[in-house]
Amino acid sequence: MYISQLRLLNFRIYREAEVDLLPGVNLVLGANGGGKTSLLEAIATLALTRSPRSASIADFATWEHSEMGVSATLSAGSGKVNLEFRASRQTEAGRWARRLRREGQPAGSRQMLGTLGVVLFWPEDLLLIKGGPEPRRRMLDVVLSQLSPAYAESAVRYRRAVDHRNAVLRAIREGAARSADLVPWSEALATHGTEIMAARRGYLQQAGEVAAEAAAGMGERGDVQLVYRPGLGGLRDQPEGDYARLLHAAMAPRLAEEIARAQSLVGPHRDDFEVALGGQPARQFASQGQQRSLVLALKVAEVRRHVLDRGEAPVLLLDDVLSELDHVHRTGLIGLLSSGLHVEQTLITATEEQGITAAVAVAQVLDVTQGQARVRP
Ligand SMILES: Nc1ncnc2c1ncn2[C@@H]1O[C@H](COP(=O)(O)OP(=O)(O)OP(=O)(O)O)[C@@H](O)[C@H]1O
Ligand SMILES: [Mg+2]
Repeated sequence: MYISQLRLLNFRIYREAEVDLLPGVNLVLGANGGGKTSLLEAIATLALTRSPRSASIADFATWEHSEMGVSATLSAGSGKVNLEFRASRQTEAGRWARRLRREGQPAGSRQMLGTLGVVLFWPEDLLLIKGGPEPRRRMLDVVLSQLSPAYAESAVRYRRAVDHRNAVLRAIREGAARSADLVPWSEALATHGTEIMAARRGYLQQAGEVAAEAAAGMGERGDVQLVYRPGLGGLRDQPEGDYARLLHAAMAPRLAEEIARAQSLVGPHRDDFEVALGGQPARQFASQGQQRSLVLALKVAEVRRHVLDRGEAPVLLLDDVLSELDHVHRTGLIGLLSSGLHVEQTLITATEEQGITAAVAVAQVLDVTQGQARVRP
């Protein structure tokens, strides 16, 4: 499956744009600030039913417009599918109302997620190894919400439970509520937290094996492991741990601190995972080159998991990564693209051709300037 046509309306720098895309490698070229990243973000927003970069529609809707949208036609051997993400600004308080459509019919996230699979790789992904836990949690959410709409739903319910629970914690601190008022929200946190944690643990177990193989393929000698570190406030994770029980056990001793800070301090919003190479945490010990191999290996694991779970390769969105990779990893990535991954469609952005067309077979070049994307004849 590949995107055959993409349409944007008031998405960041774009007013109205329509682009035909081809299977294979679509090279998106243009100067800084022209709209290359925004184009990939628009595709990911449609796939995920939310932006992978910003939480709110107000960030990616063009300033001063009150209607925005992204839609695409997906083509496969079996036919075509249309997906649409639209939003309008409500008059009061500048809120945005989102509407999703599939084949022109109103749809929920459930009917949209997983239809268009995407794997994103942008320069900030290099932080997956050296950065704080936030990008790693985001990576897990991006992958798992596409593989399982149930996961996406758990994540929404979990967020809501934490927000309510924090509000009650604040009310307790101000003397306006009692500890007993927390019970339903602690239950909800544990229920949806368990769903999220079990999915993340399962993903990391399997992705670890694929990543290890991919890293070995890039010449890394040490064994690669992805070790889940669930946000259990210091309680030890157990093999096949019963997360609901562990979450309740982790919450109990933190209650006074939670009230003082009006914040829920345990749960998957505090999760992390460690990438280990040769038994050592990569965060502390991996060299620049090893970090690049590990990030690439994580991306390969994402692609493979799409193939396994969704039965087809995702569209690969590579934002500016070729310039971030050294020669060895660039060659490795291009090798994977041209043979190893069996990806049907890739969008690669770059400011210059930088010999890309010499290294990889490019199906077409899109020139992007000032929110206009044109296929180069
Ligand atoms: N909500 C918005 N409304 C209008 N314009 C926006 C909005 N958000 C971002 N922009 C503008 O969109 C432009 C395009 O940004 P984008 O990141 O897509 O460029 P790019 O081609 O990837 O550049 P670079 O090569 O530097 O990465 C920026 O100049 C930015 O100021
Ligand atoms: Mg960019």
